[in-house]
Amino acid sequence: MDSAGTSDKRLRRAVCPGSFDPVTNGHLDVIGRMSGLFDELVVAVGRNAGKNGLFGYEERVEMISGVVGHLPNVSVEVIDGLLVDFCAARGIRAVVKGLRAVGDLDYELQMAQMNHRLAGIETLFVATNPLYSFLSSSLIKEVCALGGDVSGLVPEPVLERLVERLRKDR
Ligand code: PNS
Repeated sequence: MDSAGTSDKRLRRAVCPGSFDPVTNGHLDVIGRMSGLFDELVVAVGRNAGKNGLFGYEERVEMISGVVGHLPNVSVEVIDGLLVDFCAARGIRAVVKGLRAVGDLDYELQMAQMNHRLAGIETLFVATNPLYSFLSSSLIKEVCALGGDVSGLVPEPVLERLVERLRKDR
Protein backbone atom coordinates (compact mmCIF):
# COMPACT_ATOMS: atom_id res chain seq x y z
CA MET A 1 0.00 0.00 0.00
CA ASP A 2 1.16 3.54 -0.64
CA SER A 3 0.41 6.59 1.53
CA ALA A 4 -2.96 7.05 -0.19
CA GLY A 5 -3.91 3.51 0.84
CA THR A 6 -4.02 2.12 -2.68
CA SER A 7 -2.11 -0.98 -3.60
CA ASP A 8 0.73 -0.21 -5.99
CA LYS A 9 -0.23 -2.46 -8.85
CA ARG A 10 -0.78 0.20 -11.46
CA LEU A 11 0.36 -0.43 -14.98
CA ARG A 12 3.70 1.01 -15.91
CA ARG A 13 4.51 -1.09 -18.92
CA ALA A 14 2.55 -2.48 -21.81
CA VAL A 15 3.12 -4.50 -24.93
CA CYS A 16 1.83 -3.35 -28.31
CA PRO A 17 1.85 -6.53 -30.42
CA GLY A 18 1.21 -6.96 -34.12
CA SER A 19 2.38 -8.47 -37.36
CA PHE A 20 3.72 -5.11 -38.57
CA ASP A 21 4.34 -6.46 -42.09
CA PRO A 22 5.20 -3.65 -42.52
CA VAL A 23 4.56 -0.97 -39.90
CA THR A 24 2.17 1.75 -41.14
CA ASN A 25 1.52 5.30 -40.05
CA GLY A 26 -1.62 4.00 -38.34
CA HIS A 27 0.50 1.70 -36.16
CA LEU A 28 2.90 4.54 -35.45
CA ASP A 29 0.07 6.79 -34.34
CA VAL A 30 -1.03 4.19 -31.77
CA ILE A 31 2.57 3.54 -30.66
CA GLY A 32 3.23 7.26 -30.21
CA ARG A 33 0.06 7.81 -28.20
CA MET A 34 0.62 4.76 -26.00
CA SER A 35 4.22 5.73 -25.33
CA GLY A 36 2.77 8.87 -23.75
CA LEU A 37 0.53 6.83 -21.48
CA PHE A 38 2.93 4.20 -20.16
CA ASP A 39 6.41 4.49 -18.67
CA GLU A 40 7.60 1.78 -21.05
CA LEU A 41 6.08 0.38 -24.21
CA VAL A 42 7.38 -2.76 -25.88
CA VAL A 43 6.40 -3.08 -29.52
CA ALA A 44 6.32 -6.82 -30.18
CA VAL A 45 6.44 -8.34 -33.64
CA GLY A 46 4.55 -11.63 -33.60
CA ARG A 47 3.74 -14.50 -35.86
CA ASN A 48 0.15 -14.46 -37.12
CA ALA A 49 -0.64 -18.03 -38.21
CA GLY A 50 -3.18 -16.73 -40.73
CA LYS A 51 -0.83 -14.43 -42.64
CA ASN A 52 2.09 -14.99 -45.01
CA GLY A 53 4.81 -12.45 -44.44
CA LEU A 54 6.50 -10.22 -47.00
CA PHE A 55 9.26 -9.10 -44.62
CA GLY A 56 11.23 -11.27 -42.17
CA TYR A 57 10.69 -10.71 -38.44
CA GLU A 58 14.07 -9.10 -37.84
CA GLU A 59 13.52 -6.86 -40.83
CA ARG A 60 10.19 -5.71 -39.39
CA VAL A 61 11.88 -4.97 -36.06
CA GLU A 62 14.57 -3.01 -37.91
CA MET A 63 11.98 -0.95 -39.79
CA ILE A 64 10.03 -0.12 -36.61
CA SER A 65 13.19 0.64 -34.62
CA GLY A 66 14.26 3.03 -37.37
CA VAL A 67 11.15 5.18 -36.93
CA VAL A 68 10.58 5.18 -33.14
CA GLY A 69 14.00 6.55 -32.19
CA HIS A 70 12.38 9.79 -30.97
CA LEU A 71 10.40 7.79 -28.36
CA PRO A 72 12.99 6.83 -25.70
CA ASN A 73 10.57 4.64 -23.70
CA VAL A 74 9.76 2.41 -26.68
CA SER A 75 11.63 -0.81 -27.45
CA VAL A 76 11.03 -3.30 -30.24
CA GLU A 77 11.32 -7.08 -30.07
CA VAL A 78 10.22 -10.28 -31.79
CA ILE A 79 7.73 -12.55 -29.98
CA ASP A 80 9.26 -16.00 -30.13
CA GLY A 81 6.23 -18.14 -29.24
CA LEU A 82 3.11 -17.07 -27.41
CA LEU A 83 2.42 -13.44 -26.61
CA VAL A 84 1.39 -14.37 -23.06
CA ASP A 85 4.78 -16.05 -22.47
CA PHE A 86 6.53 -12.97 -23.87
CA CYS A 87 4.57 -10.83 -21.39
CA ALA A 88 5.22 -13.18 -18.45
CA ALA A 89 8.97 -13.19 -19.12
CA ARG A 90 8.97 -9.40 -18.83
CA GLY A 91 6.46 -9.04 -15.99
CA ILE A 92 4.06 -7.17 -18.27
CA ARG A 93 0.31 -7.49 -17.59
CA ALA A 94 -1.28 -5.39 -20.30
CA VAL A 95 -1.52 -5.50 -24.07
CA VAL A 96 -2.61 -2.46 -26.08
CA LYS A 97 -4.10 -2.75 -29.54
CA GLY A 98 -5.55 -0.24 -31.97
CA LEU A 99 -9.09 -0.78 -33.26
CA ARG A 100 -9.82 0.70 -36.68
CA ALA A 101 -13.51 -0.19 -36.92
CA VAL A 102 -16.05 -2.69 -35.61
CA GLY A 103 -14.78 -5.12 -38.24
CA ASP A 104 -11.63 -5.57 -36.17
CA LEU A 105 -13.54 -6.42 -33.04
CA ASP A 106 -14.40 -10.12 -33.54
CA TYR A 107 -10.83 -11.13 -34.17
CA GLU A 108 -9.35 -8.83 -31.55
CA LEU A 109 -11.84 -9.91 -28.88
CA GLN A 110 -11.05 -13.55 -29.60
CA MET A 111 -7.35 -12.97 -29.05
CA ALA A 112 -7.93 -10.78 -25.99
CA GLN A 113 -10.16 -13.41 -24.39
CA MET A 114 -7.75 -16.22 -25.20
CA ASN A 115 -4.83 -14.25 -23.74
CA HIS A 116 -6.88 -13.56 -20.62
CA ARG A 117 -7.85 -17.22 -20.36
CA LEU A 118 -4.24 -18.34 -20.80
CA ALA A 119 -2.52 -15.99 -18.40
CA GLY A 120 -4.83 -13.28 -17.07
CA ILE A 121 -3.33 -10.73 -19.47
CA GLU A 122 -5.57 -7.68 -19.93
CA THR A 123 -6.05 -6.13 -23.38
CA LEU A 124 -6.78 -2.42 -23.73
CA PHE A 125 -8.24 -1.27 -27.04
CA VAL A 126 -7.37 2.14 -28.42
CA ALA A 127 -9.43 3.89 -31.07
CA THR A 128 -7.30 4.41 -34.15
CA ASN A 129 -6.97 7.93 -35.47
CA PRO A 130 -9.76 8.19 -38.13
CA LEU A 131 -7.13 9.47 -40.57
CA TYR A 132 -5.83 5.91 -40.68
CA SER A 133 -8.94 3.83 -40.10
CA PHE A 134 -8.91 2.43 -43.66
CA LEU A 135 -5.28 1.46 -43.47
CA SER A 136 -3.91 -2.07 -43.24
CA SER A 137 -0.52 -3.55 -44.03
CA SER A 138 -2.17 -5.99 -46.46
CA LEU A 139 -3.87 -3.21 -48.42
CA ILE A 140 -0.66 -1.18 -48.49
CA LYS A 141 1.20 -4.16 -49.99
CA GLU A 142 -1.51 -4.81 -52.57
CA VAL A 143 -1.73 -1.20 -53.71
CA CYS A 144 2.02 -0.72 -53.76
CA ALA A 145 2.62 -3.96 -55.71
CA LEU A 146 0.20 -2.76 -58.40
CA GLY A 147 1.93 0.59 -58.74
CA GLY A 148 -0.32 2.72 -56.48
CA ASP A 149 1.02 5.60 -54.43
CA VAL A 150 1.16 4.72 -50.73
CA SER A 151 3.37 7.62 -49.69
CA GLY A 152 2.07 9.33 -46.56
CA LEU A 153 0.60 6.03 -45.36
CA VAL A 154 3.87 4.41 -44.29
CA PRO A 155 7.12 6.01 -43.11
CA GLU A 156 9.53 6.95 -45.92
CA PRO A 157 12.14 4.22 -45.19
CA VAL A 158 9.36 1.62 -45.19
CA LEU A 159 8.06 2.96 -48.49
CA GLU A 160 11.52 2.53 -50.01
CA ARG A 161 11.70 -1.09 -48.87
CA LEU A 162 8.20 -1.81 -50.11
CA VAL A 163 8.92 -0.44 -53.56
CA GLU A 164 12.21 -2.32 -53.75
CA ARG A 165 10.64 -5.60 -52.63
CA LEU A 166 7.35 -5.46 -54.52
CA ARG A 167 8.24 -3.75 -57.76
CA LYS A 168 11.65 -5.13 -58.56
CA ASP A 169 10.23 -7.30 -61.36
CA ARG A 170 7.82 -4.78 -62.83
O1 PNS B 1 -1.24 -7.34 -36.46
P1 PNS B 1 -1.99 -8.61 -36.12
O2 PNS B 1 -1.95 -9.58 -37.28
O3 PNS B 1 -3.37 -8.32 -35.61
O4 PNS B 1 -1.18 -9.27 -34.89
C1 PNS B 1 -1.54 -10.55 -34.41
C2 PNS B 1 -0.54 -10.95 -33.30
C3 PNS B 1 0.86 -11.01 -33.86
C4 PNS B 1 -0.64 -9.96 -32.17
C5 PNS B 1 -0.99 -12.35 -32.78
O5 PNS B 1 -1.09 -13.26 -33.85
C6 PNS B 1 -0.05 -12.89 -31.72
O6 PNS B 1 -0.16 -12.51 -30.56
N1 PNS B 1 0.92 -13.76 -32.14
C7 PNS B 1 1.87 -14.37 -31.21
C8 PNS B 1 1.52 -15.85 -31.02
C9 PNS B 1 0.32 -15.99 -30.09
O7 PNS B 1 0.37 -15.68 -28.91
N2 PNS B 1 -0.81 -16.47 -30.68
C10 PNS B 1 -2.05 -16.63 -29.93
C11 PNS B 1 -2.84 -15.34 -29.90
S1 PNS B 1 -4.29 -15.48 -28.89
